This record gives sequence, structure tokens and C-alpha cells, in this order.
Amino acid sequence: MPRQLFVTTALPYANAGFHIGHIMEYTQADIWVRYQRMAGSQVHFVCADDAHGAPIMIAAEKAGKTPQDFVAGIAAGRKQYLDGFHISFDNWHSTDGPENHELSKAVYLALRHNELITTKTIEQFFDPEKSMFLPDRFIKGECPKCGAKDQYGDSCEVCGAVYAPTELKNPYSVLSGATPVLKSSEHYFFRLSDPRCVDFLTQWTQEPGRLQPEVLNKIREWFEPDEQGNNRLSDWDISRDAPYFGIEIPDAPGKYFYVWLDAPIGYLASLKNYFGKMGKDFDAFMADESVEQIHFIGKDITYFHTLFWPAMLHFSGRKTPNHVFVHGFMTVNGGEKMSKSRGTGLDPLKYLSLGLNAEWLRYYIAAKLNAKVEDIDFNPEDFAARVNSDLVGKYINIASRAAGFLAKRFDGRLSADLGVEGSALLETLRAHSGTIAELYEEREFGKALREVMSLADKVNEFVDQHKPWELAKQEGMDAALHDVCSVCIEAFRLLTIYLKPVLPALASQVEAFLKVVPLQWGDAAKALGAHQIGAYQHLMQRVDTAKVEQLFEAPPAPKVAPGGEDIAPEIKIDDFTKVDLRIAKIVKAEHVEGSDKLLRLTLDVGEGRLRNVFSGIKSAYKPEDLEGKLTVLVANLAPRKMKFGVSEGMVLAASHADEKAHPGIFVLEPFAGAQPGMRVR
Ligand code: 2FM
Ligand code: ZN
Repeated sequence: MPRQLFVTTALPYANAGFHIGHIMEYTQADIWVRYQRMAGSQVHFVCADDAHGAPIMIAAEKAGKTPQDFVAGIAAGRKQYLDGFHISFDNWHSTDGPENHELSKAVYLALRHNELITTKTIEQFFDPEKSMFLPDRFIKGECPKCGAKDQYGDSCEVCGAVYAPTELKNPYSVLSGATPVLKSSEHYFFRLSDPRCVDFLTQWTQEPGRLQPEVLNKIREWFEPDEQGNNRLSDWDISRDAPYFGIEIPDAPGKYFYVWLDAPIGYLASLKNYFGKMGKDFDAFMADESVEQIHFIGKDITYFHTLFWPAMLHFSGRKTPNHVFVHGFMTVNGGEKMSKSRGTGLDPLKYLSLGLNAEWLRYYIAAKLNAKVEDIDFNPEDFAARVNSDLVGKYINIASRAAGFLAKRFDGRLSADLGVEGSALLETLRAHSGTIAELYEEREFGKALREVMSLADKVNEFVDQHKPWELAKQEGMDAALHDVCSVCIEAFRLLTIYLKPVLPALASQVEAFLKVVPLQWGDAAKALGAHQIGAYQHLMQRVDTAKVEQLFEAPPAPKVAPGGEDIAPEIKIDDFTKVDLRIAKIVKAEHVEGSDKLLRLTLDVGEGRLRNVFSGIKSAYKPEDLEGKLTVLVANLAPRKMKFGVSEGMVLAASHADEKAHPGIFVLEPFAGAQPGMRVR
């Protein structure tokens, strides 16, 4: 009975294309899956778009689309990446599909039946203009610790403080600019703190071999009681209030599942959708004890996959994952991490569109991967050197050195009798099949490839010793030449088997060249014998370093807020025309006694009277430098009573948000010709 494997990668948010971090994860899982298929396992490898949640709902609204249409547009862009990098998913679905709606409700009802759902009223920020509760990332304000402006509701990027959104000073909604108000609402919670959950998870996580040791260590920290001796596993808020793009909670009108509840259930939904298309019985498959369920994920979502997810499955009466394989992030040039939110640097589509070979990248990623949760780095020079020396210099070279002689001199027919040395070499190669298989199984891809390359070295040494190019020139050495070249081709076939999980497209070209059916792992134990091969065509180019350089040319400018602050939320033209801006002539400018910031300006706005305006520009201008100049005034601002008198408007001036680091105030002045009283629009 072959192993039955149900394998997934994390479901990507349906709000953007893939970045290199996604491609790295898919490549890792794909190599493992392809190895398993070659070894005879039955694998179902599925993924889906993670469609729900407030950020996607908001992105859709910005794009002027329904969330469904928005997500469908993103989904339509997936194929070019997946085909381009040879990722062999059996199915791609969406967490907004009917299977997921149904399964999520079923899981929830089972948890509720097990008394693991509870409700609590909580207070949260609410945007009164948008009429919606705001996720932390959609609230900004001044950091309660350092006072930095425009900080997110959960943490300060300037001083690193972490806080609740309610602690922000002068908070505003990123969506509307409105000041959020506190509003209470009933939320649904999954009772992770229930002793049954704690007991189950303690056992589940510690099952030998289930999780990587580093992952288990991290989980132990989450289990440690806090300073008060309380359990650290706290109940999990699984509901969000309308408007929300998600799945409605049964018997709770206006309440939706938080996206992270239905996202992992999307693994099951995608499999169910696939089985539906194949006419296979999903329930029977999931009830089969021998099925191995395996999730490949990034380290940032470990908590969801090793605590919430197994608990949800177990307490809804389902089978739990056999393994959660966690990987690190991918960095580029030792730089910024390629996590979800910061996918810059190596754009996968640009890589493909430059004509760079996808299998170079697969090989390079594989060569750097191991079974640990370590970050891996893409270094352009290292990339070119590694691919050129290993793949082209060692592996492809073997075929190109032998194929020509076989075609010209022996009509492409291999010799069945390979001589003592040649046979011994091939035996050595075959003897490594088990070790290399084990390394693939254990996700030690870097080690597996090092084994393969050291075998390729041995084959090249054999060629160097026997010098087919000299044998070819010598009289009466035909048989020797034939044997040496045949050994090379057989060795090349074995190495191709060992590399096929990483290089599937190249392997299929090799299969065509060798005229063999698709190679399986077990084919390493066999021999080609007196087989006739096809014509050799060059199999792989060397890395073109100029193109690699192009890949990194003009990297997208780092996202710095212009002038130190983000552009304000969008407004309509009507909002703008409410502000009446006029050209004003500064008739007089003078110091204000008792103020070290203000100047008093007397302005002519063509009204037949003069206006008095206080302006905080003393640090930048001497009064005499301003007199007689034109500037721009907000003319319909409500008059403001100040300590020194009434201010009838506001003069426009530019400054950086961080005035300490970027000092300077610059009063606006129109081009020549403008007259006092003219409207600015
Ligand atoms: O972190 C993420 O990108 C999530 N969309 C992953 C979800 S994985 C699974 F739970 F669906
Ligand atoms: Zn701060």
C-alpha cells in the first residue's frame, strides 16, 4: 500500500501577486512532493487563495470592485507564477468557495457543541464615518511612549513600543481620517484556555517527530505560565462584526468568522473541491488513519498552525496534522527579509520575464535549504557561481562530453558491457540512492544536492582519466570509447533521477533525449543496457550574469513617507473646494510680544479691508523679508481667538513632519502675476 499524503503550503492572501518568499515555500514543498511521487507515494498537493478579512475588503473597495471580483482578479494571476516555477499543485481553490463556507460552519458548530465557544463583550475602536470596527493596522495616531506621529495601532515604528490602539494619542482612522470612537460589541471566542485544550496541545505538540525541535522550543515558551502563574494560552477571538468579507457565524447575525479561523479550514476545502472534481470520497479519505496530513508554512504563522489549528481539528472530531514543517524567511543579498508584507528585491515575475531559467532558482533554493527554521539568503554572485559550476560544469557536462561520440560513431546505441571500472562507478552511484532518498524525505535538500554533486565529480574524474576525446582519435579503441561514453550516459541518467525533484523540466528533456519513460526513484536500481538514445541538444545554458544584474537594477525605492508623513486619506473634489484659498499680500509683518513662535501678519486679500493673521513662522523669517510679498491664505477658516488676538485665516507653509531632523519652514509664494484676492484651485 503506497503512502497517502495530503500536503499543503500556506494559503496566500488574495491581495497581491507572489513575492520570492512564496516561491521559496512552494519550491520547498514541491521538491518534497515530487520526491514522494517518484518514490511511489500517492500525494494530493493543494493550495488556495486566502480570500477573507478586512484588508482585502478594504483593498477591493479602493479598487472599486466587489471583494469577490477583486479576489478573482488576483487568483487569475497565480498560474503564470506556478507554471513558471514548475510548482505542481493538484488543485488551487479559494477560502471563499462553498466547501469552505460549509466546512467552517461545521467545525464551529462542533466546537460549540463541545462547549469550547464562549462570548464576551469587548470595547474596540469604531470608525463613525465608515460605520465599521477598525483593525489595529487601520488606526493611526501618536505613539503613547515617544509621541511619534502617524504610528499604527499596535506598535510604534520609531521607538518600538507595543500598545493597544486605545492608548494612541489623537487617534484617527486610516480609512476616513475620522477620530475613532470606542464601541462595545459581543465577540465569540474559542476557549483555548480550557484544560482539555491545554492537555491535548501539550500532548500533540510533544509527539516525537511531529514538529522540528526549534519549533517545539518556541511552543514551550507559549505554554509557560506567566508571572502570576496563569496559563498563557488565552482564549482566541474568532469573530468580527459586519461589514466584513468572510463567512457568517451560524446563529449570530452580523457576525463573521475572523479570517484566521476559516483560512486553515481552506486546506480541507481545497482538497474537498479537488476530490469533488475527481469523483473521490473526501470524508472517507479524511477518516483514513493512514493518511498523512502535512503543512509547509513560514515561521511567522507557527502559532496558528501548531495551537489553534490542531485544537480546532481535534475538538471538531477530525484528524490532526501529522507534521507542520516550518521554514525561515528568504533574504536577498543579506538584506531585508522577504516576509509577506515586505516582498521586495527579487521579483519572481521579473525573474521569469528576463528569461532567467526557473530551475536555476529552484536549484539554488534547494541547495540552501535544510530541515531547520533558518532564513536563507539569495546572493547574486553565489547564485551564478553555484548554478554554473554544479549544474552546467558538473552535471550537464557529463552528457555533453559523451553524447556526440555515441551519435556519430555508434548510432546512439549504448554498449551493454561497461567494463570493470565503469560498472564499479555506476554501482557507487546506485548505492547512494537510499541516502539521497532519505535526505529528500527529511527535507535536507542542501545535503542531498551535495551528495549528488560529489557523485558527479566522480563521474567527471572517470571521464578525465579515460579521455574519450583521445580514444576517439586512436585506431582500434572503438570498444573502449563506446564503453566510456555509455558509462557516462548511464551515470547521467542516475544523476538525473536524483535531481529530478528539483529540476523537473530539465529531467523531462533528458527523458526525451534518453528515450525513456518518466524516471521514477526505483529506476536507479535498473540499467539501460543496449538501449538507443536520441540526439543530444544542449540542455542548459550558463547563468547570464548581466541578466541577473538587470534583475536587481532600479530596485523599487524604499517606501518612505514623503516629507515624513503618509499622504492623507483620499478626498473628493467637493471636499477640496470647501477650502477657499486666496492670494494674499503681506502688507505688514511684525514680532508678537511674548511669543517665540508667531509673527503677526497684516494681509490684503482684495476685500477692501485688511486681515490680521498669526503665523508660526518666526523661526524661519524676519518680518522685513516678508513685507510686500504674496502668499496663499486659507480665507474661509473660522476666525480663531488666540492669546494675542483673533487670527482670521491661515497662511500656507511647507515643513517636514519631523521638524527636528529636517528643520525649515517655507511660506508659499505664487508665480509672478498673481493678484491679491485671486482664488487658488
Ligand atoms: O500569513 C498568511 O499569508 C496567511 N494568508 C496564511 C494562511 S495559512 C492557512 F491557514 F490558510
Ligand atoms: Zn514611539
